[in-house]
Amino acid sequence: MIEVSGLTKRYVGHTAVDDVSFSVKKGEIVGFLGPNGAGKSTTIKMLTCYLTPTAGTATIDGLDVERDSIQVRRRIGYMPENVPLYLDMRVSEYLRFRGALKGLGGRKLTAAVDEAMEICSLVDVQRKIIGTLSKGYRQRVGLADALVHKPELLILDEPTNGLDPQQIRLFRDLIKDLGKRHTIFLSTHILPEVEMTCNRVLIINRGKLRASDTPKNLVRRRRQGGEVVVDIKADASAASQAIQALKGVTDVETEGVDGDWARLAISSKGKADLTERIHDLAVDQSWKIRELVQRDATLEDAFVDLVRKDGVSK
Ligand SMILES: Nc1ncnc2c1ncn2[C@@H]1O[C@H](COP(=O)(O)OP(=O)(O)OP(=O)(O)O)[C@@H](O)[C@H]1O
Ligand SMILES: [Mg+2]
Repeated sequence: MIEVSGLTKRYVGHTAVDDVSFSVKKGEIVGFLGPNGAGKSTTIKMLTCYLTPTAGTATIDGLDVERDSIQVRRRIGYMPENVPLYLDMRVSEYLRFRGALKGLGGRKLTAAVDEAMEICSLVDVQRKIIGTLSKGYRQRVGLADALVHKPELLILDEPTNGLDPQQIRLFRDLIKDLGKRHTIFLSTHILPEVEMTCNRVLIINRGKLRASDTPKNLVRRRRQGGEVVVDIKADASAASQAIQALKGVTDVETEGVDGDWARLAISSKGKADLTERIHDLAVDQSWKIRELVQRDATLEDAFVDLVRKDGVSK
């Protein structure tokens, strides 16, 4: 559905997107992750024909974003990061206007607008002036706009930006549901959202693509090195030293001291079962244990690790 090869965008003295290649298959929900300024919106603007690439190519359904831009636009529904809405229009009026711009008319237009409002739960507010709606509802109008012409591919640039947790959850369910009918490419900062909705994640940093994998694999890859947390009745620095000497341990960090108790976070490499060794050591040293747990890595850890390796762009 999307084929990107060597895609590059250079601004004066600054490369925002640097030789990026990836593909998205029909039916996938792909999350596009990256810190602020990583190049997400720039990539998305090239895919949606709003920016011309400096180098490289991108095709949507086999159509080139530069050469066949009119046809490309027909196949995609794009929700930009700042949804440009006409604030003095009513919801249904605005969606009719947008649908007409996308080539719909007559009964088809009416049916399409009704369906988009139904999907995005806008039926109750269809007569309201957009300017009076809350942020959550405005985002819904933006999404309804993106899907009114029933495109195969939805490209959403931070669709949940600025929403409260409940609205984020509702939006997430909506996106999951839309994924049954559309291919979806969405950028976001919200990592649990990606873990819950996406089949695959692309991570971009400083304009370069750093990873492309399932959320599970990204986490698993990171978990090659695990982390164990232990809360023991012992002197923090003496206990740290003793634990540091255990095989496989790469780092011991004191997370906190509470009276006689010390809380240590222990990192290891490989698949060593550290909990058992730490337990044995504690018995050996007569330390009392209040807590001993293996801490699961999250997609956030994987993301932070990848991004930390090459620094963050300005
Ligand atoms: N018109 C422009 N002229 C010059 N530099 C630009 C322009 N637009 C974006 N940039 C720069 O390109 C880089 C990538 O920006 P982009 O908006 O693609 O990032 P992003 O990943 O979408 O970030 P965010 O999460 O903040 O939305 C940034 O360093 C930005 O300052
Ligand atoms: Mg952006």
